[in-house]
This record gives sequence, C-alpha cells and structure tokens, in this order.
Amino acid sequence: MSLTLPLNSRISTPCKHLQAPGPSHAQMLELIAAAVHVPDHGRLRPWRFILIEDAAKDRIGSVLFERVKAVCPDASEIRLEKERTRFSFAPSIVAVVLRPVVGHKVPEIEQVLSGGAVCMNLLHAAHQAGFGAQWLTGFAAYDPEVKTAVGVAAEESVLGYIHIGSRTVQPAERERPDPDALLTKAEP
Ligand SMILES: Cc1cc2nc3c(=O)[nH]c(=O)nc-3n(C[C@H](O)[C@H](O)[C@H](O)COP(=O)(O)O)c2cc1C
Repeated sequence: MSLTLPLNSRISTPCKHLQAPGPSHAQMLELIAAAVHVPDHGRLRPWRFILIEDAAKDRIGSVLFERVKAVCPDASEIRLEKERTRFSFAPSIVAVVLRPVVGHKVPEIEQVLSGGAVCMNLLHAAHQAGFGAQWLTGFAAYDPEVKTAVGVAAEESVLGYIHIGSRTVQPAERERPDPDALLTKAEP
C-alpha cells in the first residue's frame, strides 16, 4: 500500500509572487513554534529569528542596493534593482539566524543542520497554513554590513531569509529526483 505524504505537495513560490496578506503576528508565532519543532542535539537552541516587515523591508533593501553597488562595481542595473526590491514583495520575511554554541561537544555542523531543519519546517508550516514561501540567501545573507542592518551579530550567520505571503500565482510543479535512482542498499 503506498503512503500518503502531504509533504510532497510543498513547492516554493518565488518571492516576487508573494503579496499581503501574510500571517498575523499571532499566526507568525504559530509558524515559528512549528519551525522549532526540530531535532536539536544537546538542546542548544542555536537559532533565533528576526522578522522583517513594513518599513524595515525598504530600509534593508536600500542597504542591500548600496552594498552591492559598492562591492560589485560591475553589477548591472537589473541586478541592482533586483537587490533593492528583494525584500519588497513578501509581507513578512523571517531571517533564520544561527547562533552557534562555539566549542561545545555538539559539533557546529550539527547545529547548522538543526538550523537547516528549522528553515525547512518553517517552509512546510507556511505551506500547510495556506501561504506561499521561499527560502533565499544570496548577497543579503553573507555581506557583513547587510547582516548588521538586519540585526545579525558578527558571530552569527543567516541560514536563510524565509519570505512568506499570499501567492499571486500557483507555481508549476517541477520534475523531482527519482528516489529509486538515489537509493542503494548497504552490503549485508
Ligand atoms: C540554503 C538555500 C538557499 C537558497 N538561496 C536561494 C537564492 O538566494 N536564490 C534563489 O533563487 N534560490 C535560492 N534557493 C532555492 C529556492 O529556495 C528553492 O529551492 C527554489 O526556488 C525551488 O524550490 P522548491 O523545490 O521548493 O519548489 C535556496 C535554497 C536553499 C536550500
């Protein structure tokens, strides 16, 4: 008998196809509660969240624009405009921040994996709640000055910006990897 797996219905909605309404604040807290329902070796809770909404979206978009212009002098007008508007579309963007516990017996890679699971759970929770969502990183996640503008400390990392909102289009499903081609069995 084949399994019924609702997880398979999730698909990313490109952030430019997200609009208001997004989750209310109370709903956002419910999504975060689902997001942190993850395995966390050592119960370190090495993650936190920064909610980017309203005027913060334009402010961070402007910083992003200026930083790309400064760091990448060859950036095209199209690229610059894309960066300036990156945070403009979705009503809510959640920065999932890794706050690693350095020197702990739980290796940092495991803390990162737990944080990745948080991002994935947040995508699934948003989808289950009927919202569209997309996990993005790019220049905004790695540039030190953009990180500071978002409120991320130097010793922290942005694991992802999860853009959440109402879909303006239903994204088309794409071909997924064939599980049979990926799965092998260990020698007995
Ligand atoms: C860690 C991580 C970072 C990503 N960053 C970007 C990005 O910066 N830009 C982008 O176009 N897609 C990025 N993606 C890919 C999208 O989130 C997503 O995988 C793609 O839109 C198709 O997703 P789907 O298989 O969920 O439909 C990233 C994915 C991951 C896992």
